[in-house]
Parts: sequence; C-alpha cells; structure tokens
Amino acid sequence: MNNELIDVVITSRIEQGAGIAVLDLEPVNGVALPSFTAGAHIDVHIGGELIRQYSLCNDPANNKSYRIGVLNDPNSRGGSVKIHQEFVQDQQIKISAPRNHFPLFEGAKKTILAGGGIGITPMMAMAYTLQKNGELFELHYCTRSKGAGAFEQELVKEFGEQVIFHCDDEDKSQLFSPKAIFSPVDKNTHIYVCGPTGFMDWVINNAKDMGYPSEQVHFEYFSADVDISGDSFEVYCDQSDITVTVGAQESIAIALRKAGIKVSMSCEEGVCGTCITDVLEGIPDHRDLFLTDEEKEDNDQIALCCSRAKGPKLVIDL
Ligand code: FES
Repeated sequence: MNNELIDVVITSRIEQGAGIAVLDLEPVNGVALPSFTAGAHIDVHIGGELIRQYSLCNDPANNKSYRIGVLNDPNSRGGSVKIHQEFVQDQQIKISAPRNHFPLFEGAKKTILAGGGIGITPMMAMAYTLQKNGELFELHYCTRSKGAGAFEQELVKEFGEQVIFHCDDEDKSQLFSPKAIFSPVDKNTHIYVCGPTGFMDWVINNAKDMGYPSEQVHFEYFSADVDISGDSFEVYCDQSDITVTVGAQESIAIALRKAGIKVSMSCEEGVCGTCITDVLEGIPDHRDLFLTDEEKEDNDQIALCCSRAKGPKLVIDL
C-alpha cells in the first residue's frame, strides 16, 4: 500500500442538493495524480488526527483531478462537518493515493448500480467506466426528496435514460423496488449498492432473499454503528513479541496503541479496511462491515478497530 500523502489544492467547491459540498482536487505544482479505477476512495486528512474516506466520483479516465462529494452530516463523528466549515476553494490539503476495496466485477452481462443519498458517488465512477466499455447497466439514485440529491444534471447529461431517480416523496410507482428491479435473478447480473446503512442492509437482504449469491452483490459501507464491547481477552503480537490485554470496553487497536504498538486506523468503525491485520491463531469475533462473509469464515484476518476474540487469546501478525 502506498502511504505517501499527496498535496492537492481544492480548485472548486460547489454546494449541491441538500448539504452536499462537491470538491474538485488538483495536484499542486502540476504533478500528475495517480490513476484510479471505479469504486476507489481516497483518505482526506482533515486536521489533527481526523482522516475520512471519500469515494471518487469523477470519470476514472480523467487523471487531471479527483472529485468527491461530502455530505454535511451532523450525526457523524465530525469529519464532514469540519470539511463543510473549513475547506474552501484554493486551499491546499493532503490526501492519500486512491485505494479500491469496491471494484467492478469484470465480465458481468448486466450491472445494476443502486446509490442511496451520498452513496451515489462511487456509482458515478462505475457508470462512467461501464459506459466507456459499452456494457449494459442501470444506475438507480435514491433520495429522500426531489432536489435533495447532488449531481442530477451531470447524471442526466452523461447517462440519459440509464439513470433512474427514486424519491421517497414521489408517488409509489417511482419508489425503488429491489424485487422488481433485480428480477429476473440471473447469474450474469451483478448488483452494487452504497448509501446509508439501513438502505444498504435492505437492498442487500432483498437481493440475497431473491437468490443472488454473495459474489454477485457488491457493497461498501460508509459508516457503521459498531458495538466493540465484550469479554476481556489477550492478543499476542507475533512480530513485536508483546501480549496485551483487551479490556471489556476497548478495541484491540486502542489496547495495542496503549502498549506502544502502532496501528494504522482511519474510520475506526469497521468500514474502511485500513486496520485489517492477519490472524495467526485464535478465532476472531468479527464486528466489521468490511470483510466479506467468506473472508470472515476464513478467520485469518481481523479489523483491529472493532472486532474481538471468540476465545481467551488471539495471535496476530503485528
Ligand atoms: Fe477502518 Fe478499522 S479503521 S476498518
């Protein structure tokens, strides 16, 4: 993983929809930005220890700039509010290189993209790529009310009838209906969903209830209400040869940091994957929303920011 930070300047900040700031980021001194693929995100360094992930929503073929959409969410842990309050045009900020934990599956005959609210952002980059590749897709954009969403003009201009808007305050025939939209179940159809946790759970569960296997249902959570509490247990760090005790109300990552062991973290709520570490012995009690069901069953990785142990001890590769 490339951990080097990139200096960029905010070349444009535009307010769109209900509380969404759309930021264009361009390299300082004309240095080219790393290329990215649809579904990628960047870490935005907001100040102090505050780092948040935002999906890139512009056309991945454009390597001159990155575009992100930031929802002003007063219920978040402060990152988006700070960006809304403090980030202005011409300001220089630091970001990470793009990383992609939410890539497009190659070889789908049909792709259905479902973005709820600000979850439209990774879907846009996917739509650009699918369109460029001449592949069959539908982009469903679900918002609470008409005018609440961002990017509407761009979506209509770029994707025409392939984008379908669903607003909760419109008549029932316009509402997003997973059962209707995902029918018929086909082994060559892939579904992608991103948005608020409740929306995502609902869409994913509908797809699975209909018979879509998990490898055809792709998702990326933005945030999660994660319960990190449980019985106390021990973690042995194999590389550092240190054992720590994880208390009932603390995460493994916090216990390790107290012992002086550096742990990379970003979201701290089990959605971004930054803290994923190999497990050498013991069974994790997975609490994250990042690893897939299959990866969790393998029990050889753990999200240190939120997951725990099912037994008295874990051995990790740190
Ligand atoms: Fe994001 Fe742990 S820090 S998953």
